[in-house]
Amino acid sequence: MNTFNRVISLGEHTFLFRPFQPHDADNLLGYLNNLSQESRERFGPHPYNTDSLLDLSHSDDYQLLLAIDINTTYIAAYTVVKLGWLDFEKKRYQSYKKTEKPGDCTLAPSVADYWQSKGLGSRFLSYTLDFLKAKHHIKRIFLWGGVQIDNVKAIGFYKKNNFKDIGQFEHNGRNIDMILTISS
Ligand SMILES: CC(C)(COP(=O)(O)OP(=O)(O)OC[C@H]1O[C@@H](n2cnc3c(N)ncnc32)[C@H](O)[C@@H]1OP(=O)(O)O)[C@@H](O)C(=O)NCCC(=O)NCCS
Repeated sequence: MNTFNRVISLGEHTFLFRPFQPHDADNLLGYLNNLSQESRERFGPHPYNTDSLLDLSHSDDYQLLLAIDINTTYIAAYTVVKLGWLDFEKKRYQSYKKTEKPGDCTLAPSVADYWQSKGLGSRFLSYTLDFLKAKHHIKRIFLWGGVQIDNVKAIGFYKKNNFKDIGQFEHNGRNIDMILTISS
């Protein structure tokens, strides 16, 4: 039985924030496949297929969180979190003199195109932080693959939510690494 659910209102709409369950796989795949080309280029932490979703959801190292529109049952936002650092990021973070610590995690957030820039991402992030603090004692959040330097929307979103730049790197263009340190 899942106890970490939250219901919020945004305008006329009501959303349920909760962890992914295996029966959500088709709904989440529909959400991912409906993302615009631009959003897909910004958000690609894993392949868009059922096996990937189920593999991640069955692993203790990952948390998958959903925002579901209660009236339509459509998914409006999805965030995947890796507890700890991803292997391919380690060298880069170490080059910034960062050391992996208990309480670190890596975050990849997304919001459906229709719902972007309407405040849903920030409300869902606040839930995600509460969830990660309560369930995993998370203290620092790194960005999964950083953020592309031309992703103005996401950079504004992270800055508004107190993420700080820690460095830059080249991968299909320039990217910024950012970190959020959570006060208790
Ligand atoms: C990045 C993302 C998760 C943000 O969620 P969101 O719901 O759109 O963001 P919010 O509406 O909560 O906006 C919060 C802040 O972000 C910034 N922001 C949002 N939309 C913006 C836009 N179109 N232009 C500039 N800044 C913007 C603003 O600072 C905003 O604060 P404000 O409303 O007080 O001005 C979402 O836009 C998204 O999924 N984008 C595509 C995928 C992606 O880029 N993921 C991140 C990969 S690193």
